[in-house]
Amino acid sequence: MKRYIPLALILGISLSASAQDKKIEKKIDSVLKLMTLDEKIGQLNQYTGDRDATGPITNNPNKLKDIRDGKLGSMLNVRGAKETREVQEVAMQSRMKIPLIFGLDVIHGYRVTFPIPLAEAASWDMAEIENGARVAARETAASGVHWTFAPMVDIARDPRWGRVMEGAGEDTYLGSKIAFARVKGFQGKGLGNLDAVMACAKHFAAYGAAIAGRDYNAVDMSEHTLWETYLPPFKAAVDAGAATFMNSFNTLNGIPATGNSYLQRDILKGQWKYQGFVVSDWGSIGEMIAHGYAKDKEQAAELAIKAGSDMDMESRSYLPSLAKLVADKKVPVALIDDAVRRILRKKFELGLFDDPYRFSNVARQEKEINSAENRKASLTMAEKSIVLLKNEKEVLPLSKNFKKIAVIGPLGKSEKDMQGFWSIAWDKDNLVSLYQGLKNKVGNQTELLYAKGCELSDSSKTGFAEAVEVAKQADVVVMAVGEAFDMSGEAKSRANIHIPGVQEDLIKAVQATGKPVVVLVMAGRPLIFNWTADNVPAIMYTWWLGSEAGNAMANVLYGDYNPSGKLPMTFPRDEGQIPLYYNYLSTGRPAKNDKDTRYRSAYLDMPNSPKFAFGYGLSYTTFDYSGLTLSKTQIKPDEKITVSFTLKNTGKYAGEEVVQLYLQDKFASVVRPVKELKDFQKVMLKAGESKTITFNIDKEKLSFYNQQLKWAAEAGDFKLMIGTASNNIKLEKDFTLLN
Ligand code: GLC
Repeated sequence: MKRYIPLALILGISLSASAQDKKIEKKIDSVLKLMTLDEKIGQLNQYTGDRDATGPITNNPNKLKDIRDGKLGSMLNVRGAKETREVQEVAMQSRMKIPLIFGLDVIHGYRVTFPIPLAEAASWDMAEIENGARVAARETAASGVHWTFAPMVDIARDPRWGRVMEGAGEDTYLGSKIAFARVKGFQGKGLGNLDAVMACAKHFAAYGAAIAGRDYNAVDMSEHTLWETYLPPFKAAVDAGAATFMNSFNTLNGIPATGNSYLQRDILKGQWKYQGFVVSDWGSIGEMIAHGYAKDKEQAAELAIKAGSDMDMESRSYLPSLAKLVADKKVPVALIDDAVRRILRKKFELGLFDDPYRFSNVARQEKEINSAENRKASLTMAEKSIVLLKNEKEVLPLSKNFKKIAVIGPLGKSEKDMQGFWSIAWDKDNLVSLYQGLKNKVGNQTELLYAKGCELSDSSKTGFAEAVEVAKQADVVVMAVGEAFDMSGEAKSRANIHIPGVQEDLIKAVQATGKPVVVLVMAGRPLIFNWTADNVPAIMYTWWLGSEAGNAMANVLYGDYNPSGKLPMTFPRDEGQIPLYYNYLSTGRPAKNDKDTRYRSAYLDMPNSPKFAFGYGLSYTTFDYSGLTLSKTQIKPDEKITVSFTLKNTGKYAGEEVVQLYLQDKFASVVRPVKELKDFQKVMLKAGESKTITFNIDKEKLSFYNQQLKWAAEAGDFKLMIGTASNNIKLEKDFTLLN
């Protein structure tokens, strides 16, 4: 094996683990002093590997030569203990022998695929979400990759935007909790541990507010909305210690995020005192030319480095331009030193200067990836992510006495689609389809029939007849409809978010047989399916559930897991309602209900209400809420209210309920939403069991960004609401904050 002399030894620096934390800055200084300007600029440059490129490729046969010449600080889309070691060996041939960091989009699992993040958000289970990221981190780190470009923490209120599948939905409070949990999961006990990877909070910022839900489109909003709705999950990621940030493709109020010093310097590195580094999104530095913000790559490089973009992913703007910009005195070398320092700090923290190959260990990789423990974690997450939307006539849970079950629909036997977008492709992967999951569950005691019925998105109904015939032979029909894995995701915006093709016509045809029908909708976003929602007795939203999808769906269908998911996004009735979200402003003429339209803020042709509301989800059991008490109904700013009530499982199944606490600030210097999620708990109760649930309300929960963008609470009246969904409030009481 090639010997290398760690740079640290050349520099006479002892790098014991405990010393590193205290002396990293000194080590960085000593490395910086030895670097030429070109070598510093090389650290700011990142290329993709060619095998799994995740953006428009620029052909470059000299990548390895560039690495050897010290022109690269990082690569993305290089994975595997063997592959990363090979590339790292090339970096060790460079003059400075500074190790590369390898990054990858591990968005919902590395070798074992987890449910898409929007599905995980539907679990409202922070411990489970953190564990999913933990498992992904273990598998990723064991495969030589140091850095995941996750969590994506963009708040999204527009389901036409395909990247809603990647985030935590529409709510800032839930999204912030999930951002924190996922960063903690990825980074575990801290960088340097061999099962921890750097997290990357993205896309900074407000990318989810793309006008018209069209990916990469401009974003225009008040600073108030930016601070109130879109920034808090990023701040939660900072608080969780996120090692890196990624900026976003969009302009924010006319300035590309990549060149936006308000975002990257004033807020992130200034107010939030962020010490990690910012990587540009794929090509976003060079894209400032197309935005009309930079006239050429040289100016793009100048604008980006000044605005605080530390690393250039795949735009090849920094490498050819920064030395000239320094020579022309347009960019002070101090800015480049700051960016290099931030990147070197992470390489020291990862322990790569001690041993550049420490993550590239084939034996550890084989032991860690795709383990039974990891698949079990994915199964549990998948079960908790499923949302029961409807269950009339007690069609569910399925009886084990059914002799024949028909699986009908274009996603019934699909495996690839269960992975969803932003999953990593594996040869001979073993993804469990719905059909296989049911087969695993029922064995030989029940006969499974199958008909595809139609394709996902074409107009042919030639398969309907067979599907109807198969349905007629069955005791119950389980239908699998929705989106293909690449109908939601990056650059997958859709103006029409109805279930694609003729799938709902297939549902109608099968429903007409009179057989009991359960529809499972598998998708990466909220879809519109009004006829199905109104006419089919049982419906589940199963998103894209990953490696164990079929087993999770079978467990829930048979009641071996009682569904507990709650929608993290509003489901509109029609695209015309979008953007539609639960925490809207009242207006001066609020409609009292869907029929109240005369001189009201309402449509003539469509209710204001959604098809399914934020926070909505059913269980096989029922819950009763009673006995709401507040410890005080008036508090001073430094006091708190203890809220308590009784939750009772009044059904016949044990089950989990996500109790949601909403507040309304009735009058304030900036109008407040009609309600805002301020806390929640996921509670398991046995059939018949009661439990006293308590929450605390303090000034923090009453605060908001005022006209001066200061985070403050104002004296006044509040309404506290406890609900099982944002549109299903069970208990409420008023209270007052005193001066
Ligand atoms: C993509 C995505 C970003 C991803 C990056 C690297 O274009 O916008 O989320 O991390 O490029 O694949």
